[in-house]
Amino acid sequence: MCGIVAYLGDHQAYPILINGLKRLEYRGYDSTGVALHNGSLNIYKKKGKVTDLENFVGEIIPQSTIGIGHTRWATHGEPSDRNSHPHCSSGKKLAIIHNGIIENYGAIKKDLSDKGYKFHSDTDTEVLISFIEDIKKENDCSLEEAVRIALSKVVGAYAIVIMSADNPDMLIAARKGSPMVIGVGKGEYFVASDATPIIEYTKDVIYLNDDEIAIITRNDLSIKNIDDVALTPYIQQLDMDLAQIEKGGYDHFMLKEIFEQPNSIADCMRGRLDAKKGNLVLGGISKYSEALVNSKRIVIIACGTSWHAGLVAEYLFEEYCRIPVEVEYASEFRYRNPVINEGDIVIAISQSGETADTMAALELAKSKGAIILGVVNAVGSSISRITDEGAYLHAGPEIGVASTKAFTAQLTVLTMIVLRIADRKGTITKELYHELLSELESIPEKIKSVLKSNAKIEYISDLFKDARNFLYLGRGFNFPVALEGALKLKEISYIHAEGYPAAEMKHGPIALIDENMPVVVIATSDSSYDKIISNIQEVKARKGIVIAVVTEGDVLIPKMADFVIEVPACHEALMPLVSVVPLQLLSYHIALMRGCNVDQPRNLAKSVTVE
Ligand code: M6R
Repeated sequence: MCGIVAYLGDHQAYPILINGLKRLEYRGYDSTGVALHNGSLNIYKKKGKVTDLENFVGEIIPQSTIGIGHTRWATHGEPSDRNSHPHCSSGKKLAIIHNGIIENYGAIKKDLSDKGYKFHSDTDTEVLISFIEDIKKENDCSLEEAVRIALSKVVGAYAIVIMSADNPDMLIAARKGSPMVIGVGKGEYFVASDATPIIEYTKDVIYLNDDEIAIITRNDLSIKNIDDVALTPYIQQLDMDLAQIEKGGYDHFMLKEIFEQPNSIADCMRGRLDAKKGNLVLGGISKYSEALVNSKRIVIIACGTSWHAGLVAEYLFEEYCRIPVEVEYASEFRYRNPVINEGDIVIAISQSGETADTMAALELAKSKGAIILGVVNAVGSSISRITDEGAYLHAGPEIGVASTKAFTAQLTVLTMIVLRIADRKGTITKELYHELLSELESIPEKIKSVLKSNAKIEYISDLFKDARNFLYLGRGFNFPVALEGALKLKEISYIHAEGYPAAEMKHGPIALIDENMPVVVIATSDSSYDKIISNIQEVKARKGIVIAVVTEGDVLIPKMADFVIEVPACHEALMPLVSVVPLQLLSYHIALMRGCNVDQPRNLAKSVTVE
């Protein structure tokens, strides 16, 4: 979490930093700050969002052609002015921005305090910059050398950028476990947590790897590893444009991303799927497709919404490939002693490709000899780089903290993988294989049709915006959708919501149902239709209020439910792609009506790069 941005060039740094911080705000938004150089280090920082910093700085743009900026998601120390970044070294000669956690900062802080260093914040970051200052002084060495020595002694994760009062022509950047990208312009350089602050200035970028340090001056950029060995920078071209990271007329990124789904799913299938010709090509996993076909077991690792996509994938793999699948929370997997054997297949699902728990779980699986595959959205992200192979989502940048279009793109990619393997294994009939290919191709049109219910969903939202609890029920392929609907609602509207397999209700949650409990039932016409009707009746018998997502033309459920939202008919294996959309809209409207910040919900950040 936390967003970092830095600039060195001929232009004024402040507007570039502010613009970049606004783009990175999805990564954390509890405090913001910049450091500039105008004869000496000038630091402006404030608790709150980037606009609070702008108001604090005022109309007059502080002059400087070098600067660093930070938007924070607090880990060490409450959100406050004094805990905001940038932080200065004790002697005020160095300023730093940091994304990550220095785990051994307590011991370092004690040593420095014993030497007389004073600290003005509760952060690990302030300790790190004073540690660097101390090493520089003790060893009488260059800043670059001091950074290198300090980083070889710290434990934890970091993406840092440092500037010095003594040198207004140099930035030092380094990373380990937290993302960092360097933009190379004409006579100017940019550093950021992701490419969004850079895209409008240059498309030439370098993704810094773990344990690498970049020394950026006005005329040069050099990269070394932590052992001081010079490396050749690898410049790549960004495959992204400005329009993709702007709201495009929508009030919120979340709404834009919900409405983008017909296109993002089509983009995800483009060049891979041609149902008429019966073609399904996934170049990204060609090397290991044989291993997938022959695998005896697959482990899926993910967090949050991506974990829900993993659950749908479990059902798909088991149904069509007859391969047993375990879906693991990355945060649990990494701290167990999981049974992973040489050659096992582990698939990581991640929108950002930077989730710390998923990354660590993958590293663990890799160390045990597993083949690791990625289903990732962010191109060039850490997870996409450590996996042996993978398939990108191609859904475009997802900015809203609540994941929407990434979920449906994940389902699309996972379905394509499953169908490819099932066809190779011969565990699916040719007829069904072709039927599912055509169905998949028709999903964008079906989602367009669901989006037409937006006004009706807004109306329903208004009736339930003050509810204190919500239950979401589904069966089979729609059970993970119930979990996803509940997560969407709680993360952006702060209403307590729980998702359950509908039949589990009688083992506990049914006790919650009374006339005040809205129950969203995903009750599309599928193999468990009769069963879910019984579950609806159980809810109604206890005076619960049923909001049912049903297949168009259903005549039975509308007679029992209080409200229905129709979705087009679809094969049950692909229904989650369609049935999740009304739930995304429901949570969006409820959150908005409750006055919540839809794109930047409290306590959350888009990329969870700390454990
Ligand atoms: O970037 P990732 O897919 O790895 O992120 C995983 C979760 O942090 C993420 O899905 C989170 O649960 C979302 N806020 C859900 O909307």
